Amino acid sequence: MSSKKLDNLRAFCMNRWPEKMGATHGVEHWDRVAKFGQMLCQGGADMDVILAFAYLHDSERQNNSIDDEHGSRASAFIDTIRDTELRELSDEQIRKLKRACELHTIEHRTGDITIDTCFDADRMDLLRVGIMPDPKRMATKRGVELVSDPYYEVYYQEICTHYNQENKNNIIK
Ligand SMILES: [Fe+2]
Ligand SMILES: [Fe+2]
Repeated sequence: MSSKKLDNLRAFCMNRWPEKMGATHGVEHWDRVAKFGQMLCQGGADMDVILAFAYLHDSERQNNSIDDEHGSRASAFIDTIRDTELRELSDEQIRKLKRACELHTIEHRTGDITIDTCFDADRMDLLRVGIMPDPKRMATKRGVELVSDPYYEVYYQEICTHYNQENKNNIIK
């Protein structure tokens, strides 16, 4: 996905996000999931799918606590923007993106490196709500390594500190 298309997708998702929903599952989280996705991406994982997941997986949340259906709703929503915001993605990429969104709160691991990287990118941001990601619950080898690193909390805080809404390139690069 070109960076312009990614910018457009990010802006599109931000515009739809109700202000009252705040930051816990909002753009600050999405940007960090994108950053973590880049840190995790290896072994044939599809970065375009992972970036699209970052901005879409929680976009259909209706509250910040229990909302079991938000992944399924995100998957259904993807169908409605398949020919507009997501037109650069292939049918196979859309299939993986939908599956990652649908399963991100349900499955531990699928065996698909792209989908599993999406899961771990989201899990790596659990510290925003004070939860240390559990290596046993990560889906990828790289995810296990990163959250097992004794400096994980330090670099997590650095990523949060450097977050700047006016200059998301600090995060996305
Ligand atoms: Fe979610
Ligand atoms: Fe999330």
